[in-house]
Amino acid sequence: MVSYKELGLVNTREMFAKAIKGGYAIPAFNFNNMEQLQAIIKASAETKSPVILQVSKGARNYANQTLLRYMAQGAVEYAKELGWEHPQICLHLDHGDSFELCKSCVDFGFSSVMIDASSLPYEENIALTKKVVDYAHQYDVTVEAELGVLAGVEDEVASEVSHYTKPEEVVDFATRTGCDSLAISIGTSHGAYKFTPEQCTRDPKTGKLVPPPLAFDVLDAIMEQLPGFPIVLHGSSSVPQEYVDMINQYGGKLPDAVGIPEEQLRKAAASAVCKINIDSDSRLAFTAAVRKVFAEKPGEFDPRKYCGPARDLMEELYKHKIINVLGSDGKAE
Ligand code: G3H
Ligand code: 13P
Ligand code: ZN
Repeated sequence: MVSYKELGLVNTREMFAKAIKGGYAIPAFNFNNMEQLQAIIKASAETKSPVILQVSKGARNYANQTLLRYMAQGAVEYAKELGWEHPQICLHLDHGDSFELCKSCVDFGFSSVMIDASSLPYEENIALTKKVVDYAHQYDVTVEAELGVLAGVEDEVASEVSHYTKPEEVVDFATRTGCDSLAISIGTSHGAYKFTPEQCTRDPKTGKLVPPPLAFDVLDAIMEQLPGFPIVLHGSSSVPQEYVDMINQYGGKLPDAVGIPEEQLRKAAASAVCKINIDSDSRLAFTAAVRKVFAEKPGEFDPRKYCGPARDLMEELYKHKIINVLGSDGKAE
């Protein structure tokens, strides 16, 4: 048993309370490799933003959970080295799908876990979430749960359609499970294709797809039911057009990729939404930068020469999110 406190990590309790009060959101960035982690930590340290490092089941399989945990521990020391005196870094399991997986993360130094039982029937979601909460809270590890279904791919679970969270269920769910935060479904989804072209309109000037707005009425109704309760938005990448264009220009093929417009995320961040999950945008930045090097310098074969520019572009992206979208800069001096 390793306590996250010994690793210099923090859970989400205080982060979320301050974010709700202050009308901003904490960035939750997924990482699978060293370059992403370096970029996240540099961006957070420079902007003094609290940050959640997310590890998915897929990331654990790709990079090895032991290595990822030690990387997160190293990240705390790296942040201090960068001059961030009191780093507020949370290590979080993203989309945990079983009690065993959540337990192993709690036992291994994670400061927060998500149990995503949203694809199960309501009562089963409650039972599994409560089991994880009861275990995690013994070690002061915070737990995110999910109610409602996002369209698209949730780790290995795919859903064709989204089912918005039902506001009439949230009080019962939060009370009976004891979860610390709730991921909801209001129209976001995972990946770079969040809406089909049929769901969008086209901007007559640019010809670009304009996605439909998120269901803020559902969010409002949830907040009315659970005043001050921490709400989480998954699937919140904006799919920046500049990265999509770069990828397509340098040999990639991402037709009609579309994300959540930034102004909608700003509006969400100002509400009880206090954790905003971003993964795809980082993947797009990485891929765009690597493709550019490959196209412009076909003789290059030193990974540092293409992973380096990818890291720089991701750092720029993370800083932009922190400062211009979530407003979490300067909140962890
Ligand atoms: O929610 C999904 C995250 O973007 C993680 O994706 O399962 O491919 O690592 P992954
Ligand atoms: P995106 O695919 O929109 O980046 O969402 C990531 C996410 O929700 C991770 O849990
Ligand atoms: Zn997610």
